Amino acid sequence: MSEPRHFLEIDDLSREELTAVLDRAETYKHAQANGEDHDDLAGQTLGMIFQKPSTRTRVSFETGMTQLGGHAIFLGADDIQLGRGEPLKDTSRTLSRYVDIVMARLFKHDNVEVLAEHSSVPIVNGLTDDAHPCQTLADLLTIREETGGFEDVSAAWVGDGNNVAQSFVIGAALAGIDLTVATPDGYGIDDDVLERARELGGDLTTTTEPTAAVADADVVYTDVWISMGQEDERDVRMDAFEGFQVNADLLEDAPGASVMHCLPAHRGEEITDEVIESDRSIVFDQAENRLHAQKALLSWLLE
Ligand code: CP
Ligand code: NVA
Repeated sequence: MSEPRHFLEIDDLSREELTAVLDRAETYKHAQANGEDHDDLAGQTLGMIFQKPSTRTRVSFETGMTQLGGHAIFLGADDIQLGRGEPLKDTSRTLSRYVDIVMARLFKHDNVEVLAEHSSVPIVNGLTDDAHPCQTLADLLTIREETGGFEDVSAAWVGDGNNVAQSFVIGAALAGIDLTVATPDGYGIDDDVLERARELGGDLTTTTEPTAAVADADVVYTDVWISMGQEDERDVRMDAFEGFQVNADLLEDAPGASVMHCLPAHRGEEITDEVIESDRSIVFDQAENRLHAQKALLSWLLE
């Protein structure tokens, strides 16, 4: 049997494959808008392991499978034997005997690699502490819809150099988007991620100045300052991120920019209510595009 194709990081796709998945997502999106059905995944089952909570990832994957004629099973880590200490490698080998594909939201990134190492079916990363590639697929689909392509698009990331940021940095490089990342000292993108993005030819600048980052950007993207699992760091993070809020003042320097956020947002912290409710905000388009992008990814991986 051939090795399954996993999706643990956005650069598990080549540039051509990324375009193919985004094109397929667009096709599914238009088909749905026209009321056409697709049963590309009829009879197939997705297992969904969650060690952390989720609204968008859980509902978009489950709905996507239903819309493609397949089925999804929610496997909360504490509802399966994983929560009682069954090794991940045994969980992976067992699930491989039942389901056609597995999506996992885990804390440690190494653990999604363990799942993949022992799985005979594709493993999809539904967020780890280090990466959120499914979010990046939806982000790139959203940017492409907004701008008509990636050429001459300039994006700014403002805030924490977290999982969403790291995947976006690599995704932007893969897509050919110019990106400036503004993070406080000590909260930047990991060096190996910067290196991977640069190796992909990414036009990437890092700074600690949000104002410099957003100047003339087409897209300004942020995410929470306190990610899942970092709740104990709240006080120190709130101090560190002072001045990094995406608000009306900051956006004066980016008059044409659309504003992105992967959601859930903490209004009043990394972004203001005013900005998220403004005409510039495309956050719910991003959320919707999780569905279309993941339907495309699932059917592509299972082809
Ligand atoms: N953006 C995202 O992954 O949202 P959820 O945590 O709700 O899945
Ligand atoms: N950075 C956030 C993203 C949630 C979708 C977290 O990891 O909690």
